[in-house]
Amino acid sequence: MKVLIINGPNLNMLGKREPEIYGTLSYEELARFITDWGKSLSMEVELFQSNSEGAMIDKIHESLHFDGVIINAGAYTHTSIAVRDALLSVSLPAIEVHLSNIYAREEFRGKSYLSGVVRGVISGFGKESYYLAMVAMKAMLEGSAHE
Ligand code: DQA
Repeated sequence: MKVLIINGPNLNMLGKREPEIYGTLSYEELARFITDWGKSLSMEVELFQSNSEGAMIDKIHESLHFDGVIINAGAYTHTSIAVRDALLSVSLPAIEVHLSNIYAREEFRGKSYLSGVVRGVISGFGKESYYLAMVAMKAMLEGSAHE
């Protein structure tokens, strides 16, 4: 089971960026947790981070050899029809994740262009949002989750 985990703009600044919202864990530390969780779930994980919308879209287009995609598109979540269309263009099972609870913040964050084209959304559990998404992805790919 091969899963691509895409992180969008400013997530490379984790730990330094608004720690009261996103916590003090750095992106490298988050990546280490995700790699370890992948091992414990028998899931092959590739991590990709970019601050560029086009690079995220290119990566999604190249993701056909993966079984699923977990995506935190950062602020592009709230603006990017292009990222939404990219997810539709590959028709891979995708899960949207957010560290913070986007519904408990500014009103503009409550709108996601991605939510309508993914299998589910996990938002608000800090780094554990990724863990929960990985568990959900595994259950979904193994066919034990409700369709
Ligand atoms: C975020 C939430 C977005 O609104 C924000 O722009 C981010 C991070 C999150 O993980 O909580 O960059 O996706």
